[in-house]
Amino acid sequence: MYRFILKTYYALTVPISIFFILNSALIHPDYKLSFFKKYRLGFRMFLNKMRIPTGTSYKSHLAMALKILETPPNEPGDVVECGTWKGGSAANLSLVCKIAGRKLLIFDSFEGLPKGDESDRQAFYETGDYYGPLDEVKKNIEKYGAIECCEFVKGWFDETLPGLNTPVLLAFLDVDLELSLETCVRHIWPNLVERGYIFIDEYVTLDYCAIFWSEEYWKRYFNRLPPGLMGAGTGLPLGEYYIGPWSDNENRPLHHPNAGAWTRKDFSGAWIHFPDVKQLSKRGGK
Ligand SMILES: C[S@@+](CC[C@H](N)C(=O)[O-])C[C@H]1O[C@@H](n2cnc3c(N)ncnc32)[C@H](O)[C@@H]1O
Repeated sequence: MYRFILKTYYALTVPISIFFILNSALIHPDYKLSFFKKYRLGFRMFLNKMRIPTGTSYKSHLAMALKILETPPNEPGDVVECGTWKGGSAANLSLVCKIAGRKLLIFDSFEGLPKGDESDRQAFYETGDYYGPLDEVKKNIEKYGAIECCEFVKGWFDETLPGLNTPVLLAFLDVDLELSLETCVRHIWPNLVERGYIFIDEYVTLDYCAIFWSEEYWKRYFNRLPPGLMGAGTGLPLGEYYIGPWSDNENRPLHHPNAGAWTRKDFSGAWIHFPDVKQLSKRGGK
């Protein structure tokens, strides 16, 4: 009964979620995204979530769609996905790329997760978890997305990402492991355009999100203050409510996290006031 109510609630909220997430006056008029086109896109994204095994919610895909569609078409930058599994999130991003006239670069081992390092606090997965072979990913995107917008880069991130040398408007990093996330951030950040976005999954794990708040990390690799992360710990508030109880209630915060977290290249997320030390910087993340 509880599951039935949850599923009914979930289904009923789809049109409302699409309306609220894509109802932005900032969507660029050149994309000619009428009310009906927005709904068509939103429903396709929702249905794809049902058709392709997918580790992330269609709401997080819609949130990324919004940022891509709010960016003027003359702003350069590809969309990048690191971590694709069966291609569910990539199929949805490819639909948005088609509307926005952008390329989607898909980086993955296509062999599943690598063996986790013992220093990695997320390394509780088995090697090869989230295995999605390239052929299967391509088939899924061909069937449900826009494969003509996609380019596939097969291999481990530390071998493939150093070769990334095109501007990036938005990167979606859904890579589970701390060390994989770090590799992605280190190689993608320099390619991000001035107001480029990084979205991540695993946003409920505060230690994982902490890379975006670590002053030591951002000083060491980018000589700047950290950018911070919107939605750290809770995910973006895209209309999901706690209607528990959860089975492992003790470990769950009082919400149903389902919609990603993000930052932007020009953001600043640093505390600069220390009563006994000279002010670090006036404002801004530089
Ligand atoms: C959770 S899955 C991605 C789920 C997908 N974004 C979705 O929404 O369905 C994580 C993916 O990251 C990939 N991955 C993680 N670390 C990697 C690394 N260091 N190099 C290459 N691929 C990696 C795995 O192969 C896997 O496909």
